[in-house]
Amino acid sequence: MMTTAEKKKDSLPFFGIGKIIPYIRKYSKHLVLMVVCGILSGLFDIVMPLFQKYALNHYVGEKTLDTLGWFIALYAATGILVCIMTYISCSIAMATEVRVNRDLRNAAFDHLQTLSFSYFNQNSVGYIHARVMSDTSRIGSLSSWTLMDAIWHSTYFIGALVVMFLTNAKLAALVFLIVPFITVLFSFFQKHLVRVNREIRETNSKITGDFNEGITGAKTIKTLVIEETIRDELTKDTAEIKRKSVRAARLRGLFSATMNMASSVAIALVLWRGGYIAESEVGTFSMFMTYAEGLMEPVRWLIDVVSDLITTQVNIERFSKLVETKSDVSDSPEVIEKYGDTFHPKKENWEELKGDIRFEDVSFKYPDGDELVLEHFDLDIPYGSNIAIVGETGAGKSTLVNLVCRFYEPTSGKVLIDGRDARERSQLWLHSNIGYVLQSPHLFSGTIRENMLYGNLGASEEDIWRALKLVSADEVVNKLEKGLETDVGEGGNLLSTGEKQLICFARAILADPRILVLDEATASVDTITEQKIQAAIDTIIKGRTSLVIAHRLSTVRNADVILVVKDGKIIERGRHKELLRQRGHYYELYTRQYEDEATGKALA
Ligand SMILES: Nc1ncnc2c1ncn2[C@@H]1O[C@H](COP(=O)(O)OP(=O)(O)OP(=O)(O)O)[C@@H](O)[C@H]1O
Ligand SMILES: [Mg+2]
Repeated sequence: MMTTAEKKKDSLPFFGIGKIIPYIRKYSKHLVLMVVCGILSGLFDIVMPLFQKYALNHYVGEKTLDTLGWFIALYAATGILVCIMTYISCSIAMATEVRVNRDLRNAAFDHLQTLSFSYFNQNSVGYIHARVMSDTSRIGSLSSWTLMDAIWHSTYFIGALVVMFLTNAKLAALVFLIVPFITVLFSFFQKHLVRVNREIRETNSKITGDFNEGITGAKTIKTLVIEETIRDELTKDTAEIKRKSVRAARLRGLFSATMNMASSVAIALVLWRGGYIAESEVGTFSMFMTYAEGLMEPVRWLIDVVSDLITTQVNIERFSKLVETKSDVSDSPEVIEKYGDTFHPKKENWEELKGDIRFEDVSFKYPDGDELVLEHFDLDIPYGSNIAIVGETGAGKSTLVNLVCRFYEPTSGKVLIDGRDARERSQLWLHSNIGYVLQSPHLFSGTIRENMLYGNLGASEEDIWRALKLVSADEVVNKLEKGLETDVGEGGNLLSTGEKQLICFARAILADPRILVLDEATASVDTITEQKIQAAIDTIIKGRTSLVIAHRLSTVRNADVILVVKDGKIIERGRHKELLRQRGHYYELYTRQYEDEATGKALA
């Protein structure tokens, strides 16, 4: 059952606008000016028909033209003031829109950087992308244009009514006869339009999802030959959105037409009785007709804005959900106080990291997993040691190093770095001391040089080449026509997986980390390159703590300790020869691999 607090939170009042006030408050001075100009421009618009009334009453027929000079001057001045006010309020609205947009996007992006891995596992790229791009842009336009329109329309509406009643209450009351009619129409269309718009929005998200899958899974779609199935799904959704959009357009058209009719009715009423009531003052008569028509504009606007606000409420909710998401892994206020946060590190307080790692009775379950991956796990890695982790797929090897890197935190127990709980110091401190070559290598779009520099912004040309040479990645770079200036494409997709892996490796080394983590870092390179890298690893790891995960057991022979992991437990540990002598799981894995390789060679 929902608590009262939850219910309150669920039905956001005023379309949830309260949630974005902190982002708008900054611009309150601009907005006040915009509101004032909006009100003035609305007021001047009300004055215009008064001129019309005056001119018709005083200058048409055999009347005097004495005041004509003044009239023209005032009329022109009012016209110019309307222009100026409109210009100021529009430019403020435009500037506020882009400013709020920028602030929201920066806030969302900054917050994303602090979220843990599990957030990205649970939310698709498409979903996050929509939050950062389209939700923010709708909120931006709400806080500027919608606000300005609201001011202008209400000023006009209220002002016109006041002028009408002051000029001729009876005639104004006559125009008011159509109000009940408009109210009924409004609520009828409002209900239907909101529903159709919601359905369109839902289908639209489905289409975005279809597109995302179609793009990210393009290769898989081709290999599975399911183009037709995927297309059918998309065309079904696009047909649906077309049908619904046409319905919405018809509804809106019908509403517009009935509003036109309503204003015609109002004008007809004025024409019918106006003569008596206004005692044949043509000017008053004509002014009333202009107002009667103009009054429909705010009503027309209102119907659109209500559907818009309902959509924007969803945007606000989703955006707030993103920026309010608490990371599973976060630094405590005391830690931030001392070590700084992601964007304001207090490096002067950072201790040097030696590289002792200890797991103390660690149990771990992934935030979205059901079972414990590690249970009462203990492990001591003294600084400078070279640990190899082997085991079958899904044994928990990557999980183990993810915990070392504090990408996740233990469900219970502790991971100690240099004898202190990792949570006692900042994530950034730890991460800036770790070089991690991931199982799935990632490069940023840009050149190889730029990618290398992400490892160490201050690295010289010489440092870059030394790092590249160390892992035989220099050959990859030399082979490319543009060398270090080669563009690697989004995610590094213009290079092969092995090439990407080598460059990621070199990048990690360039950072000169205290702890080096290699998760299958050589899985995608050929045996000759692997041997070269192996030699490099032997050099690089000296004086550092290293954790090397490898499927190919031939690469871990030199490790100080090999940990054999199975179902989240270390079932064997020791040096290569000792483990072989034990004739346990490692021996089994090794001989099986060795046999496979021997058979492979023989067949070749
Ligand atoms: N993000 C996740 N959410 C939930 N469960 C996960 C997640 N990542 C891994 N697991 C589960 O945790 C277990 C250990 O996974 P892990 O990635 O550590 O295996 P691994 O030993 O690195 O395997 P491989 O050799 O295939 O890389 C697996 O059973 C897996 O299903
Ligand atoms: Mg793994």
